[in-house]
Amino acid sequence: MASTAVIGLQWGDEGKGKVIDSLAAEADLVVRYAGGNNAGHTVVLHGEKHVLHLIPSGIFHDHALNLVGRGVVVSLEHLAQEMEGLQARGLPVQERLRLDGRCHVIFPYHRHVDRLAETWRGEGRIGTTGRGIGPAYADKVARTGIRLADILHPEYFEHRLRAALAEKNALIAKVYGDAPEPHVRLFEESRALADRFRPLIVDGGELLRQADRAGKRILFEGAQGSLLDLDAGTYPFVTSSWTGVWGIAGGTGFPPNRIGRTYAVAKAYSTRVGEGPMPTELHDELGQRIREAGREYGATTGRPRRCGWFDAVAARYAVELNGLDGVILTNLDVLRGFQPIRVAVAYRLGNRLVRTFPAEVGVLPDLEPVYEDLSGWDQDVGGARRFQELPQPAQEYVRFLERQLGVPIERVSVGPDREQILGGEHARTDLWPSA
Ligand code: IMP
Repeated sequence: MASTAVIGLQWGDEGKGKVIDSLAAEADLVVRYAGGNNAGHTVVLHGEKHVLHLIPSGIFHDHALNLVGRGVVVSLEHLAQEMEGLQARGLPVQERLRLDGRCHVIFPYHRHVDRLAETWRGEGRIGTTGRGIGPAYADKVARTGIRLADILHPEYFEHRLRAALAEKNALIAKVYGDAPEPHVRLFEESRALADRFRPLIVDGGELLRQADRAGKRILFEGAQGSLLDLDAGTYPFVTSSWTGVWGIAGGTGFPPNRIGRTYAVAKAYSTRVGEGPMPTELHDELGQRIREAGREYGATTGRPRRCGWFDAVAARYAVELNGLDGVILTNLDVLRGFQPIRVAVAYRLGNRLVRTFPAEVGVLPDLEPVYEDLSGWDQDVGGARRFQELPQPAQEYVRFLERQLGVPIERVSVGPDREQILGGEHARTDLWPSA
């Protein structure tokens, strides 16, 4: 078994892009399996920032093939733009990218419905990215979706699009009272785009299983985070896909028992974009300080992220659910100068102590985090390259989280650059399984 998965442990934006990029240096294949261009994976290369939304983070490495797995929803317009942006920087994207023909397509009417539905929800809005993600997945489940492979067959595509659009336009016009989407232009434009992607469209599951048999190293790249997962997350304030390790098999066609190791990336504190429960959120000046220190503004929408202390209850839940081999901790440098640093180790619910993450976390108004306080540090940790070079309180903080999570913290990231990552105290030398 030669594959490794890296997913998000919290509500997304944990810094997966950088971790995945460093692992991708040794991967033969890098695979996205869920979400769409709601994700924003930032990779800093030689001081230059690149944000990927749909294309896997291995695209910067010349020997890795990058696959958009069948569980991903693909906006054709966005994909074309993202490819062009990378090509303009000289990357041979056509050679390095493959798309599973089973991927469902996000059409303009999905974005349209996403925006209308959010407005319709009013106070109850989810705070989606407006990229049409939920409506595209809803169509997939309702069996009115259209897949990449379907567009390659004009007559079939025409028939599917006509049926889908008739229904969508009835919803847009009759329920939401907005202008319907034109059919002819949509048909022509989608066909033209899909034709451009034709050489890249493959059977992704077959590609992966063959690669596995040949002993290739496959890296599965999670999007969003476990607490935004459709089933495991803070429903209904979740995204519409399976973000955890469990999403990999369904979202790619790769057998679950062939995944060699599983890691999650966790931020040294909590952030969340959009609405929904976040027990450790800080509404005060401290939250603002974390936001500024961590430059916590969304990579996809630019929205300010909600910030708070590390929630070990939620994180432990996600560790157990995913069956992780370890955690990679990011943004430790951001906590410099905070005194004390707090970690939620349980919740108080009335006169009860709760140590598991409740399903109805959002509707328990008297749920309060129980904090443990740890000493902070004033030194800049960005230059550290070994765990022992961290100030004593920073080492203690990492050890404390490790005990809370019950799995090793394999790497600690202390800044945005590729080099600013060090092994945890109990780190393995290699995050890849031995083949
Ligand atoms: P959607 O995925 O656009 O439907 O949005 C659903 C929820 O997931 C919203 O709260 C979004 O802010 C959140 N979300 C979606 N993608 C990301 C991400 O990549 N990082 C953080 N939050 C995300």
